[in-house]
Amino acid sequence: MLPFNSLISSSQLSPDIIAKIFSLTDDMAAMIDKQGRSDLLDDKIVALLFFEPSSRTMLSFQSAAQRLKAGTVFAQSASSTSFEKGESIEDLIRVVEGYSDIIVMRHAQPGSAAIAAAACEIPFINAGDGGNEHPTQAIIDAYTIYKHKGRLDNLHVVLGYDSLQSRSIHSLSQLLAQYANNRLTFIGPAKLFPSDQLLAKLETAGVKCDVKEQAVFTDEVDVIYLNRLQEERFEDRQLFEENRLKYRLQRADVENSDILVLDPLPRIDEICTSVDSLPNAAYFKQTSYGVPVRMALLAGLLHKKP
Ligand code: NCD
Repeated sequence: MLPFNSLISSSQLSPDIIAKIFSLTDDMAAMIDKQGRSDLLDDKIVALLFFEPSSRTMLSFQSAAQRLKAGTVFAQSASSTSFEKGESIEDLIRVVEGYSDIIVMRHAQPGSAAIAAAACEIPFINAGDGGNEHPTQAIIDAYTIYKHKGRLDNLHVVLGYDSLQSRSIHSLSQLLAQYANNRLTFIGPAKLFPSDQLLAKLETAGVKCDVKEQAVFTDEVDVIYLNRLQEERFEDRQLFEENRLKYRLQRADVENSDILVLDPLPRIDEICTSVDSLPNAAYFKQTSYGVPVRMALLAGLLHKKP
């Protein structure tokens, strides 16, 4: 049902494919409401390889597999597997595909998803490859924007505060670049602006991009997408310490506005908890879409129609 065997990057996601995934997601959400679980994948086994910490992604993939009655096999840290012994990604994938029908992998090395997918003969999903990409999160983010704003084009989206290292920001910005007339403003410390390479890619796709050290949340902003400073990816510890409390969304910044506030979570310092009760704070709703979106991806890549 999906026109690829592996989901590695959100740049694979054209508006047509996104529309297909959203429609499948709606079907999955309706199925959950009606009956809780279905037999759709009861002849399948999903391998969940999480070699970097994860709560939401791992648990929602597990929940998605179980709602469709697929079996699961798990590896939860690099140290519990043969990586510790020096096994290559390719060899591990060749082994795991003998135990499963689809592989979901999170790994600390940027580019590891492409390496794994190239070695993999069964469907493969990138659940985050270091600071590079996180395409399934981008689909959840886009689904949330679509549910609240009714469109994925003609949007002004502000993203921060670590656009250099946040794989969620990398993937969402590339997904939004597939739609017309989007404007992206990246905010945060100058040292954490997106790479020139990402900016060039987005601009070539027709997105108007700005970078700003000071955030301005005016009425013409449709969405604010914040992600924590990626502490574990900082080479310069001082840069992290200097900025971790400098950039925080306050209630007054978005109160009485229609600006949709999103965060892939975990929230650390980037959004004050006083924002949580605002009607436009949608990050907990956003995380709840993780299960139906991931059910849609598992079924879509395994060519199973609900
Ligand atoms: C994100 C990730 O792992 O990149 N989390 C998630 O999957 N919801 C965001 C983050 O860790 O900052």
